[in-house]
Amino acid sequence: MKAVLAYSGGLDTSVCVKLLQEKYGCEVVTVTVDVGLAEEELREVEEKARSLGVAEHYTIDAKEEFARGYIFRAIKANASYEGYPLSTALARPLIAEKVVEVAKREGAEALAHGATGKGNDQFRFEAVFRTLAPDKKIIAPIRELNLTRTESIAYAREQGIAIPVDVEKPYSIDENLWGRSIEGGALEDPAFEPPEEIYEWTKLRRHEPELVEVEFERGVPVRLNRRELEPAELIAEANRIAGEHGVGRIDMIEDRILGLKARENYECPAAELLITAHRALEALVLTRRELAFKAQVEARWSELVYFGLWNEPLRFALDAFIDATQERVTGRVKARLHQGRCTVVGRESEYALYSVEAVSFDDKSIDQRSVEGMLRFHALQAEMFWRSLRRG
Ligand code: ARG
Repeated sequence: MKAVLAYSGGLDTSVCVKLLQEKYGCEVVTVTVDVGLAEEELREVEEKARSLGVAEHYTIDAKEEFARGYIFRAIKANASYEGYPLSTALARPLIAEKVVEVAKREGAEALAHGATGKGNDQFRFEAVFRTLAPDKKIIAPIRELNLTRTESIAYAREQGIAIPVDVEKPYSIDENLWGRSIEGGALEDPAFEPPEEIYEWTKLRRHEPELVEVEFERGVPVRLNRRELEPAELIAEANRIAGEHGVGRIDMIEDRILGLKARENYECPAAELLITAHRALEALVLTRRELAFKAQVEARWSELVYFGLWNEPLRFALDAFIDATQERVTGRVKARLHQGRCTVVGRESEYALYSVEAVSFDDKSIDQRSVEGMLRFHALQAEMFWRSLRRG
């Protein structure tokens, strides 16, 4: 049987190649979907796959597709699940889709992934596998063989697989353009303070405050400090700029799909900067009712995506609503980066629902007395309630 495996070059998926060959008797094709890796890293991943004796390896550059079709949607949706700006969750459906495409091209009968039976990624991979390729078999070796991380490391040693982790620092790291996640090992104790060494994107390198200007067109960032950039490049640049100020570090308890609470550490400087700026612009151009309703839509959107239901029709419908609100989200936001904080210090838009004259204490274009009739009715029902108490 031919199986196509989503391959990252990490411990679990490398172990999966061998397990699929040895225990499942499969011919293995590996697919590495580039959602934001360095070229050198990609070459190493490919070499590693080939050294494991795969029948074929595919490296698929999906950076622009990820940035435009997924990250930009996440920005428009201010996507966040319990305070985690969806990054791993956002990339999984795209990776799964590419695996399905390769499987169809290769005429493979099986789709495989290296997720465990405790996490979220199994749901995300398999939801896409089932929606796009219902006839293919799904193999999840780590889960099916009930392997622990220590057992995986031991099996890797046995098979002579080079492993990037060791037993003292067995972190499980997932990285893409939109964020970096670190879990496992000593971090599994929620009381344990993460050592500085787990962080790579948010090292404090600049100690003076820095201003950065983000320009949006219809809800998506198009210029950074007045420089027009392609989506993937813009996000990489935002990560660099905000990361040097230590912006976007998250240490949280997260409710996984299964209900398990997990300790999660994230680095997401670009997400922190771009979503903060995006929200600030929305606050200027959307009505209070649009904002309030959109907040509910955002929560539902984020939950769907976290749960791996990217292909659920409700997601398309919510995106249609979100897109409708973004028509006017065009303008510029200035943010100040300093000591891990990103603070909005200015915003402007041709669609601003803002009038200095109307709000200023120094202007007479609104006659203050015209509000008096409204005041009489403002607390009408409360007035009646208090009157009834005095009667009773
Ligand atoms: N908890 C996050 C999510 O479910 C990130 C998981 C990333 N995986 C990892 N091995 N670090 O989206």
